Amino acid sequence: MRTITHQHELREVLRNIRDGGAAIGLVPTMGNLHAGHMELVKTAKANTDCIVCTIFVNPLQFGADEDLTAYPRTLEADKNKLIALEVDFLFAPSVDALFGSNPQQQSRIHVPGLSEGFCGSSRPGHFDGVATVVNKLLNIVKPHQAFFGLKDYQQFLVIRKMVSDLALDVEIVGVETLRAESGLALSSRNNYLSEEQRQTAALIYRCLVDTAASIKAGDRNYHDLEASARNRLAGADIRPDYFSICNAINLAAAVEDESHFVILAAGYIGPSRLIDNIRFEIS
Ligand code: PAF
Repeated sequence: MRTITHQHELREVLRNIRDGGAAIGLVPTMGNLHAGHMELVKTAKANTDCIVCTIFVNPLQFGADEDLTAYPRTLEADKNKLIALEVDFLFAPSVDALFGSNPQQQSRIHVPGLSEGFCGSSRPGHFDGVATVVNKLLNIVKPHQAFFGLKDYQQFLVIRKMVSDLALDVEIVGVETLRAESGLALSSRNNYLSEEQRQTAALIYRCLVDTAASIKAGDRNYHDLEASARNRLAGADIRPDYFSICNAINLAAAVEDESHFVILAAGYIGPSRLIDNIRFEIS
């Protein structure tokens, strides 16, 4: 694996590889890699010829009240994991190398609608930061496909809409969430949880599964189902942020005869904010 820290060098190397006919796969990450990220890499390897993984803790997607400096940075351990999976290139620029000395002066991408609710309400500006950095990485790498985890389902939809709205020539591929045996979605944020909190956190997925089962069994009292899941979470010391039954394509509140569902959940355990979702169709 070759590690590159400057965009011009990466552009140059990839131009030759692209001209040689290889399909390039991009896996953008913020590092602190776990098995969920490895799944993104494995999917990228199964679909493309040359894998570019990026590690960049993007300041633009952190709010003023969020601790950017405390975000775990584990570059050496991350590199070893990527080498083991035979990733071709790691792009790990500094903030200065990617955004210059004043990131706040960067032009921003705003994806209206999908960026607004849920994590967009709790973390104002977050999706502008995500869309901006992903757009920049796509422009530098020019991959044929880019791979994102479906645990961050709203992020996935925001990125897909940006790519469609701005006519970017790349396919955005969603990769299924990896889970611990308890059902807890794998996330870098789980590192902040004690073993007991991890067991508690598994209730988020249990609530998603149970609510989906009720809907599949014919219950359409979405409001009651959401309220009961929120109470169940609160009863286990998980402070719910949202638990919402939505249309899986546009994240509008699900209608009575909805067919494409996503249930989005976010909650706090201690200071950690965890998110998860479940998607299903009813014909
Ligand atoms: O999902 C993430 O890790 C980040 O939001 C991403 C897509 C790498 C952009 O910084």
